[in-house]
Amino acid sequence: MSSELAIRVEGVSKAFAIYDKPHHRLLQQLFPNSGRSWHREFHALRDVSFEVRRGETVGIVGRNGSGKSTLLQIICGTLTPSAGQVQVQGRIAALLELGAGFNPEFSGRENVYLNATVLGLQRSEIDARFDAIASFADIGEFMEQPVKSYSSGMYVRLAFAVAINVTPDILVVDEALAVGDEAFQRKCHARLERLRNDGATILFVSHSAGMVIELCNRAVLLDRGELLTQGTPRHVVSRYHKLLYAPAQRVDEVRARIRADADNAAAAAAGGDASDTVSDGAYFDPGLVSQSTLRYPSLGAHIDDPRIETAGGQRVNVLRGGNDYVYRYRVRFDAAAAGVRCGMLFRTTTGLELAGGVSAAVGNGIDVVEAGSELAVHFAFRCQLAPGTYFANAGVLGLSGEGEQYLDRRIDAIMFRVMPDPDRLATGLVDIGIRPSVSIEAAAGV
Ligand SMILES: Nc1ncnc2c1ncn2[C@@H]1O[C@H](COP(=O)(O)OP(=O)(O)OP(=O)(O)O)[C@@H](O)[C@H]1O
Ligand SMILES: [Mg+2]
Repeated sequence: MSSELAIRVEGVSKAFAIYDKPHHRLLQQLFPNSGRSWHREFHALRDVSFEVRRGETVGIVGRNGSGKSTLLQIICGTLTPSAGQVQVQGRIAALLELGAGFNPEFSGRENVYLNATVLGLQRSEIDARFDAIASFADIGEFMEQPVKSYSSGMYVRLAFAVAINVTPDILVVDEALAVGDEAFQRKCHARLERLRNDGATILFVSHSAGMVIELCNRAVLLDRGELLTQGTPRHVVSRYHKLLYAPAQRVDEVRARIRADADNAAAAAAGGDASDTVSDGAYFDPGLVSQSTLRYPSLGAHIDDPRIETAGGQRVNVLRGGNDYVYRYRVRFDAAAAGVRCGMLFRTTTGLELAGGVSAAVGNGIDVVEAGSELAVHFAFRCQLAPGTYFANAGVLGLSGEGEQYLDRRIDAIMFRVMPDPDRLATGLVDIGIRPSVSIEAAAGV
C-alpha cells in the first residue's frame, strides 16, 4: 500500500448468520457439516471499497442499519470481514460503540491505563499524559470509581479523552460524540479540528450533516451495506438527505439515481473531464420545513410555491454564504387588482427582521393585473447572512378604496439555512462587506 494511504478497504463484505429460532444456533454448531443449513445469511456489507489518504478527514453517513458501525469495526479489527480485506497504516485509536474497550469492573484510572496500553503506549508515556486525559474527561471523583457506575455521557468523556491523548495516527469515531452534552461536544469538535490540523487521519460516522460538512474533506454514503457514492461532503450529504427523506416507494429509484450519478462522475473523472455536478455546494434538504407558516386570508390573490433557487434554477434551502440566489414565488389573481407590489422579508428564528425588499416603490406598482393572470416574482439576492436558520415571508400588496393592503401574505413561508463557514471573517448576523486589513506600523520608540 502506498505510503500516502492510511486506510484501504477493498471489496469488503460482511455476512451475519441469522437464526430464526434460538435452538437453530445450537444445531448449527453441533452439526456444522450435516449438509443442512440452520441459518440465513444477512449481508451487512457488500463489496465495499474505498481509500483514506493520510491526513484526510472522512465522514461516513447513512441511514440506520446501513452498515456504518460494522464497517468501522472491520477497519479497527474488532470484526473480521467475510470477504475482502482492510489495510491500515499507523496507530489507530477508536471510539466505537459504548462499552467497547473498557472493563466495567475497573476504575476510570485503571481503564485509562488498560486502554492506552492496548493503543500501544508505554506505562511512562501514560503517566506523562494522565493529567491531560483526566482534565479533558473532567469527570472529577468518578475517575476512581468503577466504570460500571458511569452515565453514558461520562463514559464517552473518558473514552474520548483517552483516544485523543494517545496522539493516534488514525482516529476512528462512531457517533460517540452525540452522547455528551453540548459543551463537551464543542470541546471534542475543537479537539478533532486540532488533531486534523496536526495531520491525523480521522474517520468518523455522524448523523450530523453540519459536522460532516464542517470537518470533513470527503464523505462516503453507505446504504443497505453498499457504498452508494463518495465525494465532497456537500455532495454526499445532499444525496444522503435525498435518501433519508424519500417516500418509501421511491427509495429504490433514488438509490439507483445516486449510484448512476456516482458512476457518471467516476467515468467523467476517468476521462479527464473535471465536470463538477455540485454547482455552488448549496442543496435542498427536504427535512427543512417551516412549522410556523401563517397564511392571511386572501383578498383575491394567492401566493404559490415560494422557494429559493440557485442562479442555475436548482431549488435549494441550504445556502452558502456569499453566493447569489433567487427567492421566487408565483401569484395567481382571482380578482383584478391595481397598484400591485410584491414583497419579501427574511427573519431570524427569534423573529428579527433582517432583510427584505419590495418590487416597486409606493405608488409605482403594476397599474392593473387582470383576474386570471399569474405573476412570477423574483428577488435576486446575495446571501450575506451568518450561518444559521432563517425564515422567509412573502406578500402581495394592492390598492383599494382605503389605500394599500395585503392581497395575500405568508409569514414564515419557507425555512432555510446558511451553512457553516469556518473561513467567514464577518461576525454578527449580516456581512456588511467587511474587508479587514491589519498592518504592523513601526515598533514604538524606534
Ligand atoms: N452481530 C450481528 N448479527 C446480526 N446482524 C447484525 C450484527 N451486527 C449488525 N447487524 C446488522 O447489520 C446491519 C448493519 O448494522 P450497523 O450497526 O453496521 O448499522 P449502522 O449503519 O451503524 O446503523 P446505526 O445508524 O443505527 O448505528 C443492521 O441491519 C444490523 O441489524
Ligand atoms: Mg452504528
